[in-house]
Amino acid sequence: MYLTNQIQREREREREREKMEKENSNASAEVMRNKQVIYREKVQGSLKETHLEVRTSSERPKAHKDSGTIMVKNLYLACDPYNLNLIKFSTQLGSPVPGYGVARVLESGHPNFKKGDLVWGITRWEEYSLITAPETFIKIEHTDVPLSYYTGLLGMPGMTAYAGFFEVCSPKKGDTVFISAASGAVGQLVGQFAKLFGCYVVGSAGSKEKVDLLKNKFGFDDAFNYKEELDLDAALKRCFPEGIDIYFENVGGKMLDAVLPNMKLHGRITVCGMISQYNLEQHEGVHNLINLIWKRVRMEGFVVFDYYHLYPKFLETVLPQIKEGKIAYMEDIAEGLENGPAALVGVFSGRNVGKQVVMVSRE
Ligand SMILES: NC(=O)c1ccc[n+]([C@@H]2O[C@H](COP(=O)([O-])OP(=O)(O)OC[C@H]3O[C@@H](n4cnc5c(N)ncnc54)[C@H](OP(=O)(O)O)[C@@H]3O)[C@@H](O)[C@H]2O)c1
Repeated sequence: MYLTNQIQREREREREREKMEKENSNASAEVMRNKQVIYREKVQGSLKETHLEVRTSSERPKAHKDSGTIMVKNLYLACDPYNLNLIKFSTQLGSPVPGYGVARVLESGHPNFKKGDLVWGITRWEEYSLITAPETFIKIEHTDVPLSYYTGLLGMPGMTAYAGFFEVCSPKKGDTVFISAASGAVGQLVGQFAKLFGCYVVGSAGSKEKVDLLKNKFGFDDAFNYKEELDLDAALKRCFPEGIDIYFENVGGKMLDAVLPNMKLHGRITVCGMISQYNLEQHEGVHNLINLIWKRVRMEGFVVFDYYHLYPKFLETVLPQIKEGKIAYMEDIAEGLENGPAALVGVFSGRNVGKQVVMVSRE
């Protein structure tokens, strides 16, 4: 009897041990897992969801002591038109998609970063990333705003709007300003900076919902749906009977051609982006460039990277404006990495309403 009880107890202990081992091995598999969005098939023409694939790797990167690297947990990823450039020109097939994101440092082998720091910069579309050049990352010091804002309003697109408008457009109070892709991450901010500066602001966007947002949430003086206007020249003449002082160019193509004859004398065209051209194998031509001469217009391209030294000044200006409710901001958040490919592809057809973000983890 005693023996039977002992055997029974031994069996129970064995079952308990097996259960614990199973739980531990599940836990360690859980610890090692790293969900990723992989660049699977070469992009030719438009970016499609089938070019990308969601996979789970069983390895998680490590930042070794004094390696100069950091290992981060990605929290929010930005869907920027710029992702397409990074994918096409700097990503090997089989690697995770690169792009801007907000992350928390889990391990640091770099003297400037410690475990727990929040950062934003170019990371990769996966749960955990090894960052080999952490010097390019900016530490997040202000956490009394949503962290996702550092993918947009307080990140690269916000800096683009700020530098593009204040440093390149040479704005004057009372200027008439036209912005294309105006409800996007950059456009919505350029419009609000211009309004706060004292300009007359009109934007174009691709749906009635976006036009309403421009007029009612972002305070634009006027807006139109470029997809419903049969004659873009007539729409611009209706909104700007005296002409345009500043055109903030985000789309290129037909819109740029329509804007050129509507520019005022000594107007400025700030070329930020040309999203209508990115997915074309052959770029469209521009026909009305002669207006640059007749109207003495300055047309100038710029890249945000040349202005990052202004980031502290930008934060000093914009953080109080957000807190005082002077700047409105709209995000479109896709939950989970598995919804990332559709969210990114959607940016190129205007499916996003506001800044498209992918939430990887709320921590
Ligand atoms: N120079 C720089 O350093 C710099 C930095 C950041 C961004 N950029 C450029 O700035 C522009 C805006 O960026 P963002 O971050 O604001 O973009 P976003 O928030 O991702 O918005 C993109 C919007 O562009 C519009 N769009 C898409 N395809 C279009 C097409 N074929 N024709 C016309 N509009 C189209 C869509 O809105 P609708 O529904 O209104 O069509 C879409 O929602 C892009 O061209 C981007 O490449 C440049």
